[in-house]
Amino acid sequence: MKLIRTENYAEMSLEAGKIIVDKVRSNPILTLGLATGSTPKGVYDYLIQDHEANRTTYTKVKSVNLDEYIGLPAKDPNSYHYFMNQTLFKHLDISENDTHIPNGTASDLEQECLRYEQLIKELGGVDLQLLGIGQNGHIGFNEPGTAFSSRTHIVTLAQNTREANSRFFNSLEEVPTHAITMGIASILDSKEILLLVSGERKAEALNRFVNGEISEDFPASALKYHENVTVIADRDALKYI
Ligand code: GLP
Repeated sequence: MKLIRTENYAEMSLEAGKIIVDKVRSNPILTLGLATGSTPKGVYDYLIQDHEANRTTYTKVKSVNLDEYIGLPAKDPNSYHYFMNQTLFKHLDISENDTHIPNGTASDLEQECLRYEQLIKELGGVDLQLLGIGQNGHIGFNEPGTAFSSRTHIVTLAQNTREANSRFFNSLEEVPTHAITMGIASILDSKEILLLVSGERKAEALNRFVNGEISEDFPASALKYHENVTVIADRDALKYI
C-alpha cells in the first residue's frame, strides 16, 4: 500500500485527479470505477477542468459506480445517478451509454445485482477504482460485517451511515434504508484502487485502516489484500498517523 500525504482537500483532489488523467491518457479505453459522496467532488472538478483545458477525452472510457440507493429514481436529486450526471458526466464527453450505476428502482433487485456483476465482467473488469471511506470503515455501501467474498448485493444501511448521509436530505426519515452496492470481492477485483480520505471526521477510520487488523468488522481493511492500493489523505485525516 502506498500512502500519499497531502496538506488539504484541494491538494488531495489534485493528486488523485492527476493520477486519473494520466491513466485515461495512456489507456483511453479504460474502465473507471467511480464513487459518490463529498470526498471525490474535488477530483471530479479537476477532471472537468482538465477536459476543458487540455481536451482529455472520455469518448471511449467506460464507468461503473459503486452503489445506488434503493427506491430513488435517477431524476431524484439524492440519487447517485443524479449526483454523477450533475457532478461529472454531463461536463465530459463520455457517452451516457457507457456510464453504469446500479438501478435502485429495478423491479427485481436480486436480478439487478446479478446483471451488474455480469456487466463489470463483460467490461473486462475495473481498471482503476476510486474509493471513499465511511466513518465506520464502509467502502461503497459495504457496512461492517459484510463478507469479504461478497459480490454486488442489497444492503441494509447502518444507522450511522444514514445519519452521516442525512446532510444531503431534508430529514433522516428521507434517507433510504437500503442500497445496492458492489461487494468487497467485486471491489478487490479492480486492477488498481485509489482511496481518498479527507478531514478530521475520517481520522479514526484512517488510523484503523492503516494500523488496525484485517477484519470483516471494518470493511476497508479488506483492501490490505490488494496489491495495488494508493491512499491519498490530507493532513486532518492523518491526525493520528
Ligand atoms: C457514502 C458512499 C460511499 C462514500 C462514503 C463517504 O455513503 N456510499 O461510497 O465513500 O459514504 O462519503 P463522504 O465522501 O461524503 O464522506
